[in-house]
Amino acid sequence: MKNLRTIILAAGKGTRMKSDVPKVLHPVCGKPIIQYIVDVSQSIGSLKTYVVFGHKSDIVKEALTYPIVAVEQPKLLGTADAVKCAENYFKSFRGDVLILCGDTPLLDKATVKRVVQKHKKSKAACTFLTAVVHNSKGYGRIIRGENGGVVAIREDKDAAGYERNIAEINVGVYCCQSKELFKALKALKMNEKKKEFYLTDIVEFFFENGQKVETVETENPAEGLGINTREDLAVAENFMRRKILSNLMIEGVTIVDPGTTYIDAGAKIGSDTVIYPHTFIESNVRVGKNCRIGPFARLRQGTKISDKVEIGNFTEISRTKIGSKTFMKHFSYLGDSLVGANVNIGAGVITANFDGQQKNTTRIDDGAFIGSDSVLVAPVRIGKKAVIGAGSVVTKGKVIPDGSVAFGVPAKIILKEKRK
Ligand code: UD1
Ligand code: CA
Repeated sequence: MKNLRTIILAAGKGTRMKSDVPKVLHPVCGKPIIQYIVDVSQSIGSLKTYVVFGHKSDIVKEALTYPIVAVEQPKLLGTADAVKCAENYFKSFRGDVLILCGDTPLLDKATVKRVVQKHKKSKAACTFLTAVVHNSKGYGRIIRGENGGVVAIREDKDAAGYERNIAEINVGVYCCQSKELFKALKALKMNEKKKEFYLTDIVEFFFENGQKVETVETENPAEGLGINTREDLAVAENFMRRKILSNLMIEGVTIVDPGTTYIDAGAKIGSDTVIYPHTFIESNVRVGKNCRIGPFARLRQGTKISDKVEIGNFTEISRTKIGSKTFMKHFSYLGDSLVGANVNIGAGVITANFDGQQKNTTRIDDGAFIGSDSVLVAPVRIGKKAVIGAGSVVTKGKVIPDGSVAFGVPAKIILKEKRK
């Protein structure tokens, strides 16, 4: 978007989480809270994203996938001070600044876009997002004047009398004219109760200066949830999970029981695939079209499954590629494996991929048949259409040639290159 830059506030300690991990790094459906916000900024076409860090900034920077500009807030003096820390980058910038909080992962990019669009159209000094909620405790309340215009945002700790019952709250999404924003920040006074500079005080400043302030109300108040506690985190997880499942269903995936299906953000699943109950699919997993997954399946990071594959109950697959029409239907584990098409993985087959020092690769070529209860001790290779008899242990380093039959503990080749 032309002339738009984003500042994300993420320096807070997240004290209420009672965690050694920075709050914004806690995952919601497998993705760090802050990554959701960076993604929103990126997706609405902001030219640059500045993230204000304070607490354990190195770990947070490392976890982010997009290039951002890291800004240090040396002392946590409040949200206004956090924005001020980025001021040097904005000295000659004449566009708009979008300010987002690093702890609101449920924000929809369409809503943020509405704020920016209204701001550009109305030419206000500041346009911000509000939500009408049942329980406004903990949030800044929107104080409106007689004509309905915004007069101020009153923080929870400072709200008194009728103000406490105001249901319209500040979500923490602001779009401001850069020049006016930094002018206002200079004029703000410290809040005496909290000994912090409140970003929310810019609203009162603009009002008193006769400058225009606009608001956009979200149609879905749930998206305004700020994560402050572990309970908030659980609420966010549940909300995001439903959203992910609903998007997949819209795209043609059958989810038999959304209540017991856990799919992380970023997992991709093709149409006409059926996901049975009690299935877990992590981010960075791809499942093709027309597959059957579960019940009780767990597909972990780095798993790529082609079309028409069946993965049944009590199965775990990790960092593994599987070709089309391969079956693995009962209690099995595949880790660090390359599996071809039309392979049959019998009940209870295990790849022993970790030798205590490192992870090793198992390769199973097209059309191979792995008999029930076999252990493949990686690194190992099973050739095309090879057969491993039930209960075998294929030992480390072994190559079973194409079309051969191997059997036993340790597995020995009993028929050589016969099967075509
Ligand atoms: C803030 C708003 C409140 C709004 C709520 C929405 C202020 C004063 N209040 O309250 O009106 O309803 O968000 O969720 O802004 N941060 C810094 N540096 C600091 C302090 C905070 O970077 O010195 C960051 C935090 O990491 C967080 C964000 O700013 O991502 C908001 O701070 P937080 O302390 O969570 O504010 P709230 O009390 O939730
Ligand atoms: Ca918060």
